This record gives sequence, structure tokens and C-alpha cells, in this order.
Amino acid sequence: MCFSKVFWSLLLAVLLGGALTQVGCLDFNFPTFKKEDEHKLIISEGTTILMNAVQVTPDVANDPITNYSGHIFYNKPFRLWSKSKNITASFNTTFDLRITPDLSPKQSPVGEGMAFILAADTTFPQKSEGHWLGIVNASTNGSRQAKIVAVEFDTRKSYEEDIDDNHVGLDVNSIHSIEQVSLTRYGINLSETYLYDAIKVRVQYDGKVMNVSAKTNITSEYKLISLPLELSSYLPEKVFVGFSASTGNAIQTNCLRTWEFHSSDIVDEELEMLWVWITVPVVLIVLSMIVFYLYWQNKHREQPEDAYPRIEDQIQGSSMAPQKFKFKDLRKATGNFNPKNKLGKGGFGTVYKGFLASKEVAVKRMSKDSSQGKQEFIAEVTTIGSLHHKNLVRLIGWCYERRELLLVYEFMPNCSLDKFIFGNEKLGMEEPTLSWERRHTIIYGVAQALDYLHNGCEKRVLHRDIKASNIMLDSEFNAKLGDFGLARTLQQSKNTHHTTKVIAGTPGYMAPETFLTGRATVETDVYAFGVLVLEIVSGRKPGSQNEQSDYNNKNNIVYWLWDLHRQERMLDAVDSRLSNEFDEEGMLSMLVLALACCHPNPHQRPSMRTVLQVLTGEVPPPLVPTERPAFVWPAMPPSFKEDAENFSSGSQLSPFTELTGR
Ligand SMILES: *[C@@H]1O[C@H](CO)[C@@H](O)[C@H](O)[C@H]1NC(C)=O
Ligand SMILES: *[C@@H]1O[C@H](CO)[C@@H](O)[C@H](O)[C@H]1NC(C)=O
Ligand SMILES: *[C@@H]1O[C@H](CO)[C@@H](O)[C@H](O)[C@H]1NC(C)=O
Ligand SMILES: *[C@@H]1O[C@H](CO)[C@@H](O)[C@H](O)[C@H]1NC(C)=O
Ligand SMILES: *[C@@H]1O[C@H](CO)[C@@H](O)[C@H](O)[C@H]1NC(C)=O
Ligand SMILES: *[C@@H]1O[C@H](CO)[C@@H](O)[C@H](O)[C@H]1NC(C)=O
Ligand SMILES: *[C@@H]1O[C@H](CO)[C@@H](O)[C@H](O)[C@H]1NC(C)=O
Ligand SMILES: *[C@@H]1O[C@H](CO)[C@@H](O)[C@H](O)[C@H]1NC(C)=O
Repeated sequence: MCFSKVFWSLLLAVLLGGALTQVGCLDFNFPTFKKEDEHKLIISEGTTILMNAVQVTPDVANDPITNYSGHIFYNKPFRLWSKSKNITASFNTTFDLRITPDLSPKQSPVGEGMAFILAADTTFPQKSEGHWLGIVNASTNGSRQAKIVAVEFDTRKSYEEDIDDNHVGLDVNSIHSIEQVSLTRYGINLSETYLYDAIKVRVQYDGKVMNVSAKTNITSEYKLISLPLELSSYLPEKVFVGFSASTGNAIQTNCLRTWEFHSSDIVDEELEMLWVWITVPVVLIVLSMIVFYLYWQNKHREQPEDAYPRIEDQIQGSSMAPQKFKFKDLRKATGNFNPKNKLGKGGFGTVYKGFLASKEVAVKRMSKDSSQGKQEFIAEVTTIGSLHHKNLVRLIGWCYERRELLLVYEFMPNCSLDKFIFGNEKLGMEEPTLSWERRHTIIYGVAQALDYLHNGCEKRVLHRDIKASNIMLDSEFNAKLGDFGLARTLQQSKNTHHTTKVIAGTPGYMAPETFLTGRATVETDVYAFGVLVLEIVSGRKPGSQNEQSDYNNKNNIVYWLWDLHRQERMLDAVDSRLSNEFDEEGMLSMLVLALACCHPNPHQRPSMRTVLQVLTGEVPPPLVPTERPAFVWPAMPPSFKEDAENFSSGSQLSPFTELTGR
């Protein structure tokens, strides 16, 4: 991307530079003059554009203009020479003049003439009328300060030096021509230009020699003047071009009818500087961008774990993102992560109790060497953060600072369900026994939470790790599905490659097909729910089995129950601590439902929706064969085919897995 930027910037600079360079030369053509051409010209007062010509000294019938000088300039200067480059431009110009003296008998002699001028500026010298031809005045005549070169067309012999009243002269800073030529011998009379319509003049300069030629419609073109002239000795680098004319005692119209001008271009240093001013910063910016980019890339290569900053963007970009906390606030809330406030510890980090705005919260602080990656963190924040259900532990907020990832949950005063159903043997503490009514409420709550995850929220979510230690109990012993215990099981998240089938979940809760597919599905969640129900009812641990070969292990709670089912002794499985205080029919229905959920064939397992209907008594529990059916593979779960593609290897490790395209 950087290289295309460089390219475009350079191209832009070159184009700009090129365009600016073009400004250096001057090219224009007035085949005729119209009123609207005025804005291209700088015109002195009294000078007008009339009858398709510039009346440099106008003819005003009732107010004869005598002793007057007029000027016009083209409104832009051109670069005549360059000191630093030691070169001089060349130019060509052609123009048509028409001079008409007032020849009424009383007027004698006729008035003055006109001139093509190259001048340093566009100020019109005061008192330059009469024989000064608008070029100089008494004080500037002969002075280097005049900075003016003129080709004069003089219609009057004003003083000694003038050869006659019909000549062309070349003037440098003075009215005294350095070269003058009478037109009479070429058959041209300036005072009678009406005879030829106009006199056509060509002035050419090649940087060394100035040539002046003229023709009329009845004469051919004559070279009048050809004189070596170092214009750079008399004129500044930039000059304006134009015309002057004057009248004396008599009036005389001095008209410019056409004017064409071409100059060669000298690259203007100022514009060159501008080009540099534009190009240098652009190049510098682009270079610094490249350097910064390389530096950034390099830095990130050195510290791959610092790929975290994008977490912020991803989480903030999610519309459902929960609150973002400051690290220092969470540290304060947990008493600087005081071990006394520790609620639990797992492979992913430690959970602390804290007070935020005098409300109890649970703060999960990921250990820095945690295998829970950033994708899992993002998934947890954006997925769980958007879920709202009374049977789900609510994620209040998150924090990512100093490369520490923290999650803030609502606080559950009664800890997790496993403490109640299995007791805490280590401490020898016995939690109060949960009545059947409470256990039923807990089962119903978990079923509602799962149904919400599977069917009720915007995107299907798989919990993937349903077990007693992940069921939190609030002060009213309502079940809330959470993830605190999760951390203990997902250890292989470094293997995030596509081919690796990482088995996520807790042994004993995992459906048999999991060991073959490594995939979580709606049906594997249902299986784990079935195991959970059996635990809650029996108060027994699910037994361990890791491999498919171990599946027929008699320690397995599912196998054990199915065996009791075959012997029609299922009620023997019920926790003795319940002291037979339960409705037998309801209990049997619950156990059959649990077995149905634990059917080896995922197709046969009921959906959570059906489970809820059985729990409310709307429908009877599904029929379950008395012999535990053999596990047959392949037995693709119905949801697997359509959902399989939607799993990324990364999300496979996530405790809550999103299924899109539901
Ligand atoms: C400028 O160029 C002319 C020839 O074009 C040369 O004679 C003269 O010495 C140069 N002047 C400088 C200052 O380089
Ligand atoms: C000649 O023209 C210059 C520039 O316009 C002006 O300053 C000066 O006063 C004029 N001299 C006379 C004698 O008018
Ligand atoms: C103008 O100045 C020149 C010297 O450059 C001088 O020869 C000439 O006589 C002056 N003309 C007038 C009318 O003063
Ligand atoms: C030029 O024309 C004017 C006006 O017609 C005339 O007075 C003058 O003598 C002519 N000059 C020449 C050299 O023919
Ligand atoms: C030259 O121009 C004048 C004025 O427009 C015209 O009267 C005359 O016939 C022209 N002469 C030629 C030879 O075209
Ligand atoms: C000026 O005239 C001379 C001699 O007639 C010629 O050699 C030269 O090329 C001309 N210069 C220009 C710029 O027309
Ligand atoms: C023009 O100026 C000259 C010299 O300043 C003066 O003698 C003459 O009377 C003036 N002419 C008119 C018509 O004002
Ligand atoms: C001026 O005219 C001459 C001959 O007509 C030509 O060679 C030269 O390129 C022209 N110069 C400019 C700046 O137009």
C-alpha cells in the first residue's frame, strides 16, 4: 500500500511541478480587442477599448486630449532572464498599429507617436506626454532607474536627435534612440496608416539580437532594425510588456488593433522553490510513513504477544459490548487482588471477589501465561456480554490494560452447585443438603439457560462445558450458568491449527462422539446436561472416562444408571440425603429424561426445548430403551453437518461458541 502512495504522491508532485513550470512562459493572442479583454490588461486612465482596438490615446471629439500619455500592459509579467541559470528568454511579438493624426489645418505640428515597451513595472511615469512618448519623463530620461526598453514609432521630429517625423527607433532607458530608421524610404508614412489599414510590426528577440520588421498591405515586410542587445543589462528578470503613446499640442489617435506574443520559458526559480516546497514534505511524509510502518512491523514481529491492542477495537466495535473498566479501579475493588478475596483459581486465572460502587462483583484476572488467547477473550466479552437471561451469570464488564485481561461478573454468594451436591470433603465441611424441590428448580433453571443459548438469543451459543462446578447459585439458590470452572479444563488452546481436533470440555460430561469429531454441537451440550441431571439427582460424581474405549466403564454415571434402568431399579440412584422426600413419578420422569439426553446416538437426544416441555409436564419423557444402545459411528448429529463449517479452529476452544447462520 505504501508503494502505491509513494507513486501517486510523486506523480502528483511531478504534475504540479510541470504545471507550475508552464506558468513561466507567456503566450497570448488578441486577434482583436473587445471590452471583455480589459481584465487581461492593465490600462491607464483615459485609455479605452473601442472599435475592436485599444485606443492608447483616445480621440474624444468634444474634449480633445492633448499633452496626454497612455499605457497598457499585459496583466502578467514574464521571465526574461535568469541570473542563477545565466540564460535569457527569447520572444516574438506581432501587432497592428494604426496612427491617425488630426490633420485639420490649425493643428500643427502633429502629435508625437507610440511605442512597444518592456518595463520593470506597470507604473505609468508622470509627465511623460509630448515628446517623451509615455516612455520616460524629464527626470527619468537617461537614468538606469527607468528600467525600460522601447521600440518607438515616432510621428514627430521633437528635437535635434530625431531624424525625421516618420521613424522607428530602439530606446533604452531614454527617449534618445540607440538606433533609428526612417520609414519614408520603405514607402511607409506612419501618419497615413489609414492608407494601408494598419502597419504590421514584428519584434523578435533571441536573447542576443533584437529584430524589428514592418509591413503594410501594400509593401512587403522589411527588416528595419537588427541590433545586438543584452536586455538583461537593463531590465530586471521579470518584465511586463505593453504599449505607450502620447500626444502633445495636437491630438492623435494611437490604436493597437491586434497583438500576439510568445516567449520561451525559463523555469521560474520561485516556482521551482514552490515545487520543492510541495515535493519535499510529500516525500518526507511518505518516507516517514514507510519508516514508521517498517518499525511498527518490526516491533510487532519481536513481540508477537503484543497483538493485543486490536482487542480494544474489536470489543468496542461490538454493539453489545459491556462496560470497560480501568485496571486501577479493578485493582482497588479487589484490595490489590488480595488472596483473601480469592473465590477460585483455574488454568486461565484467578477469580476475586470485589466491590465496585459498593456492589459485590467477581473479577476474573487472566494469568499472563494463560492459554486463553485473545480470540477467546473477545468471544467471551462480545458473546456473553450480549446475553441477558436470569439463569446466566451476567458479565458486567472487561478490562484490557498493561497486557492484562480481566472480566467482571455479577457476584454469586452461594458459590457453585458442586459444593452442595458433592460436599467439600477436603475441608470436611458439609453444605446444607438441597431439597428435591430446590434441585428441581436448579435443573429447570439450567435447562432454561441452555434453551436460551441454543434457541432464544440472536446467535446460537454453545456452552460446551456444562457441569456442576459451572452452575452458580444466587442467594435464593437459583441456578446461573457461568464459566468460572471452565478454566480448569481447556489447556490445549495453543494447538489452534485447522487440523488439530482439540477436545474441549470436561471428561465425564462429554458425549461419545466428541472423541471422534472433537466438535461441540447442540447435542453435546444436551448430553452434558443429561449427565448434570444425573449428578444432581444422585449426588454422585460422573465418573471419569477419557477415551472411547473407557466408555463402558462401570464407574460411568450414565452406564450405571442405564444398568439400573434395565433392572427397573432407577429410584435406587436417588441421593439418599433426600430421605425419600420426593414425588416418585416425577423423579422417574426426570431420570428417563436424563438418560434420553445421554443417548449414545446424538440423533436420539431431545432438544432443550423438548427437555423444558418434559420438565413442565407438558409432554411425557421420551422413550428410552432398557438396554443402553451401542455407540455406532458414524452417527453424524443432525446439527453437525450444517454447523461444522461455521466452526473456526479458534472458536473451538472458546467456552462459549457462536454458531452463525442459524
Ligand atoms: C553566461 O553565459 C555566457 C554565454 O552564454 C558566458 O559568456 C558568461 O560568462 C556566463 N556568465 C556567467 C556568470 O556564467
Ligand atoms: C517622472 O516619473 C516618475 C515616476 O512616475 C516620477 O516620480 C517623477 O516625479 C516624474 N518626473 C517629473 C519631472 O515629472
Ligand atoms: C535624454 O537623455 C539622453 C541621454 O540618455 C540625452 O542624450 C537626451 O538629450 C535627453 N533628451 C532630452 C529631451 O532631454
Ligand atoms: C506623411 O503624411 C503626412 C500627412 O499626410 C504628411 O504631412 C507628410 O508630409 C508625410 N510624410 C512624408 C515623408 O511623406
Ligand atoms: C490596403 O488597405 C486599405 C485600407 O483598408 C484599402 O483601401 C486598400 O485597398 C488596401 N490595398 C490593398 C492593395 O489591398
Ligand atoms: C535577426 O536578424 C538577423 C539578421 O537578419 C538574423 O540572422 C536573426 O536570426 C534574427 N533574429 C531573430 C530572433 O529573428
Ligand atoms: C502642452 O505642454 C506644453 C509644454 O508643457 C505646453 O507648452 C503646451 O501649451 C501644452 N499644450 C496644450 C494644448 O495644453
Ligand atoms: C520566434 O520566431 C522564430 C522565427 O519565426 C522562431 O524560430 C522562434 O522559435 C520564435 N520564438 C518564440 C519564443 O516563439
